[in-house]
Amino acid sequence: MTRLHDVSTRSFDQAAMPTVTMIGGGQLARMTHQAAIALGQRLRVLAENPEDPAAQVSPDVVLGSHTDLAALRKAAVGSHALTFDHEHVPTEHLEALVAEGVNVAPPPQALVYAQDKLAMRTKLAELGVPVPAFTPVAEPSDAVRFGDEHGWPFVLKAVRGGYDGRGVWMPADAAEAERIVTDQLAHGVRLLAEAKVDLKRELSAMVARSPFGQAATWPVVETVQRKGQCAVVIAPAPDLADEQAAVAETLALNLAAELGVVGAMAVELFETHDGALLVNELAMRPHNSGHWGMDGARTGQFEQHLRAVLDYPLGDTSPLAPVTVMANILGAEQAPEMSMDERLHHLFARMPDAKVHLYGKGERPDRKIGHINVLGDDVAEVREKAERAAHWMSHAVWTDGWDPHE
Ligand SMILES: Nc1ncnc2c1ncn2[C@@H]1O[C@H](COP(=O)(O)OP(=O)(O)OP(=O)(O)O)[C@@H](O)[C@H]1O
Ligand SMILES: [Mg+2]
Repeated sequence: MTRLHDVSTRSFDQAAMPTVTMIGGGQLARMTHQAAIALGQRLRVLAENPEDPAAQVSPDVVLGSHTDLAALRKAAVGSHALTFDHEHVPTEHLEALVAEGVNVAPPPQALVYAQDKLAMRTKLAELGVPVPAFTPVAEPSDAVRFGDEHGWPFVLKAVRGGYDGRGVWMPADAAEAERIVTDQLAHGVRLLAEAKVDLKRELSAMVARSPFGQAATWPVVETVQRKGQCAVVIAPAPDLADEQAAVAETLALNLAAELGVVGAMAVELFETHDGALLVNELAMRPHNSGHWGMDGARTGQFEQHLRAVLDYPLGDTSPLAPVTVMANILGAEQAPEMSMDERLHHLFARMPDAKVHLYGKGERPDRKIGHINVLGDDVAEVREKAERAAHWMSHAVWTDGWDPHE
């Protein structure tokens, strides 16, 4: 008997598709998993808890800590590339993995400039990249001297481990600086001081680079911070002169090549009132300033990150609309009584074009629990809509008093 399909069919062989491991089970891993699905892959995730955003959705979860070398090794077995949802893996563990043949992307010698703010400032200054004045702080008097020299308030930062503004202080006087430094040093936190930049606004230049050396930027965006963390992103940055945009994109491309970055990188920038651009920090992973591209660019950062770490050719990063605004959904001071599901119903009823991304996280004050992308033509209109939508999702309150029953 002849079987018709002997030659023409073949079952899908998951094992023949690459496996990427992401360290950390947060929303960045969750959204990378989403992109992995479209590429026929499963993202393996090293997560601390089964409830973590990415652990909820990936079938390939290793439970463990990113500070435990044994857990990292387990997550790396059979993986084509090992990459990150945050920058908190100890560099020595990554070096051990590389020595054992694991493809760590970005490699530790690049990643260190996203992990260690002092190493980053020093390296960038060496490369002639504009950065704020800075100095290491080994004792309280270093900080006071820096403040006296560069003006109060200045910025104190944890050299490692900060995120969402945690690990950033702006002491107003010597007493406050001494208190913070003494307290942090006692907790084993290494510190640096940097001048407080009188900034006009913050920008982010994102790029992805593959081991082959291919690189692609997205349009430079404006990031709006509230309480030290990103709240809104406007893509592209409004009224940014073409030459400035070119300077920022070229800087991102050059840094990616110079540092040997593999994967996505965000270059967080300060724009001063005279139009100068200073680097704030680097993130070598998908970044909040790239979330707009999930709906607003031909290739978003999560897919591009996977393509880059697997050395696939990179995707077209063109924007799909004149303006995309991303607004973070942040946990309210008091979580609203209305359920998240009901809030979503109301949002969709009012704004059918709002693109919602929820992370599966519990609501805590100011916690990033999701984001909304809105595309359009007019910056002010699109921004207002995206922020109104995000505020609704956080608080169950329409900022313009809209009532569907009226
Ligand atoms: N030197 C500076 N001058 C003025 N503002 C600063 C300076 N450094 C930091 N800030 C403000 O604090 C915010 C957080 O600082 P930074 O990006 O270094 O910290 P982080 O906690 O690692 O950041 P993220 O929110 O990106 O995780 C910046 O986005 C900026 O608004
Ligand atoms: Mg930052």
